[in-house]
Amino acid sequence: MMNDADNSKVCPKCGGTGWVLVVEDGIEMVRPCVCAGHERKKRLLAAAGIPARYRHCSLENFEIWNPNDPTLNRSRKIVQEFVDLYPNVEKGLLIMGPVGTGKTHLAVAALRELIASRGIPGRFADFTSLVLEIQMTFGGSGSSRDILRPLIEAELLVLDELGAGKVTPWVMDLLYYLVNTRYLQGRISIFTTNFTDTPGVGSEALADRVSARIRSRLYEMCRRVELRGGDYRRERLAHAAERGGR
Ligand SMILES: Nc1ncnc2c1ncn2[C@@H]1O[C@H](COP(=O)(O)OP(=O)(O)OP(=O)(O)O)[C@@H](O)[C@H]1O
Ligand SMILES: [Mg+2]
Ligand SMILES: [Zn+2]
Repeated sequence: MMNDADNSKVCPKCGGTGWVLVVEDGIEMVRPCVCAGHERKKRLLAAAGIPARYRHCSLENFEIWNPNDPTLNRSRKIVQEFVDLYPNVEKGLLIMGPVGTGKTHLAVAALRELIASRGIPGRFADFTSLVLEIQMTFGGSGSSRDILRPLIEAELLVLDELGAGKVTPWVMDLLYYLVNTRYLQGRISIFTTNFTDTPGVGSEALADRVSARIRSRLYEMCRRVELRGGDYRRERLAHAAERGGR
């Protein structure tokens, strides 16, 4: 019997048409072939804009590496629950925490899993790059609406590093437009940020970075996920490099 592992180019199930004839309740019907679903997921993954550095991220390889940090397990659980329940979720996720605690890892893991297992059209955008792209339209290259449209329309959006970088009032208005439109349309989003409501000395609060109106909507649109532990890059990746180097 032929199977999916078969190397021939043309799908044996549908002859490459992407459609198969099935009989349901005695009636012949045309249904999308499994290969079309597979191709679609591959296309969606490629179009999601996930940075190469994070393409390996999954919930499975998110390690509970520090036994003294209960937020690792708690956060992974919340994200797993979100993935399992989607699209029957009312809120997205706001993943907060210091540098290197795994915020982007968890956000990308959720996005990848939902694309790969469910074929959900999702997009990843990094706040700093987005702000730069918007600012470049000020000089006349393209329109900010064209940049924002795919992010507004994506069924699921990951907006990473919210509040990073300096933002002019004009750009802040456009970001508000992005967040508020998704808010009004009930679209689900995952945000990550280094900023909280209770900043340490010398740091700023989330509301100061993204404006009080955006912060307020984030809290309403999202379930909060707080990572409080250490910097995985420093604690784990550095030690692995040391071991590897000796
Ligand atoms: N618990 C974990 N298990 C496995 N890998 C992890 C874990 N936490 C972080 N990493 C890895 O460590 C690196 C840094 O994590 P990540 O980029 O998600 O941190 P972050 O919280 O988004 O940091 P930043 O605030 O700098 O954006 C990534 O390569 C990520 O895959
Ligand atoms: Mg990050
Ligand atoms: Zn097929």
